[in-house]
Amino acid sequence: MRVFIAGIDGYLGWPLAQHLAARGHTVAGADALLRRAWVGERGSVSAVPIAPVYERLAAFRELSGGPLPFSPLDLRDHPALGRALAAFAPDAVVHLAECPSAPYSMIDFRHADFVQSNNVSGTLSLLFAMREHCPGAHLVKLGTMGEYGTPDLDIPEGFFDVEFRGRRDRLPFPRQAGSWYHWSKVFDSQNVGFACRLWGLAATDVMQGVVYGSWCPPADPRLNSRLDFDEAFGTAVNRFCCQTVIGRPITPYGGGTQSRGLLSLADCLQCLTLVLEHPAAPGEYRVVNQLRDVLSVGRLAELVRDAARALGIDARIAAVDNPRDEAEAHHYNPDSEKLRELGFKPSAPIGAELRQMIGDLLPHADRVRAHADRLPPTVHWRRPQISSVPNPAEEGTRNERETAADHDDGGRGPHRPA
Ligand SMILES: NC(=O)c1ccc[n+]([C@@H]2O[C@H](COP(=O)([O-])OP(=O)(O)OC[C@H]3O[C@@H](n4cnc5c(N)ncnc54)[C@H](O)[C@@H]3O)[C@@H](O)[C@H]2O)c1
Repeated sequence: MRVFIAGIDGYLGWPLAQHLAARGHTVAGADALLRRAWVGERGSVSAVPIAPVYERLAAFRELSGGPLPFSPLDLRDHPALGRALAAFAPDAVVHLAECPSAPYSMIDFRHADFVQSNNVSGTLSLLFAMREHCPGAHLVKLGTMGEYGTPDLDIPEGFFDVEFRGRRDRLPFPRQAGSWYHWSKVFDSQNVGFACRLWGLAATDVMQGVVYGSWCPPADPRLNSRLDFDEAFGTAVNRFCCQTVIGRPITPYGGGTQSRGLLSLADCLQCLTLVLEHPAAPGEYRVVNQLRDVLSVGRLAELVRDAARALGIDARIAAVDNPRDEAEAHHYNPDSEKLRELGFKPSAPIGAELRQMIGDLLPHADRVRAHADRLPPTVHWRRPQISSVPNPAEEGTRNERETAADHDDGGRGPHRPA
């Protein structure tokens, strides 16, 4: 199968390209290298060193025996995106190319506006480009479990049966997102569903839980995927593991009773591959909930602590005030049957994944230690921000210079919110 990955330079995109190629699929991709710039803007770095994009592509070619056609484009550049799709003629398009950070979207108007326009306009551009250049291709769009929020009901996979005033219908399950970022994903879901209805597009909208884990293939460090720990781009488990390797306490937010769906990076790759290899039908808008475990943030902190202790690290937990506006005591019972019906078999248990990740991080502890001031939350959902991060409008801050080695941006400089 010919798979075009939009967002191929990201945390999930780069391992997915390698995983699909290893299964015999032909892969191409696009990325505007924005994630590298956003993490730089926040004054941080990937804990695991990553190669500049063209070194990555060279390693891919050497190790997989074939080239990976790469377009350094922004999805919102509609003509360029159309040319890339027309040239590659994909059977499937995986759309990962969005800003994935809730805290980043909550900084101020400029960041909220950027995240929503980047995500919603980029998706719209892709939908129209697919209609014109590859209308028969299957779109696999990454949404998030955060679209649903935390309703006091079980969460079905996208749709549920409703009875109202004596009439019944099958309707999209209500979305109650909790950040400007999560709302951008809700708007995307509506637009993707509409394109399926209107144009007969085949799409799978993946409501994904939080992904954790490292990707450091022993064959070549240029194949490593990034792993962030700053408050905006480090997801909870990855951040907790980074805290343990520098001897800092693990810091769940608030009471720690918030529950979320999670899965490891290895399970994420397995699930996305299953969805690609079992495509939606033309005109079908299929929604899958992609998660493996439901765990509270406090329990996750304990699991990370135990994994670190098993490796001889004296880890401890110290909760901090919750900067977010979120329910801490709530019902949470999402369905996730469709992927299991497609054949999803969870890989290693979470404890083994955590030990692997901490082991991968230990050699890079100095990188985390040098940016440890990026760990604590400074972005508050309700209060106006008094941010201690470098002003993104100022060129050449200390941290940007320090992280320049990580940011191969094709010579075009960091991309910042307009
Ligand atoms: N990582 C998780 O835990 C998680 C959980 C749920 C959903 N998701 C979703 O999965 C997708 C991938 O997540 P990730 O963690 O790999 O994020 P990521 O930021 O590492 O990857 C996204 C990639 O897309 C690129 N990109 C963003 N906007 C672009 C644009 N307009 N044009 C071209 N390239 C652009 C970025 O440069 C980056 O390399 C996102 O849509 C995210 O919302 C991720």
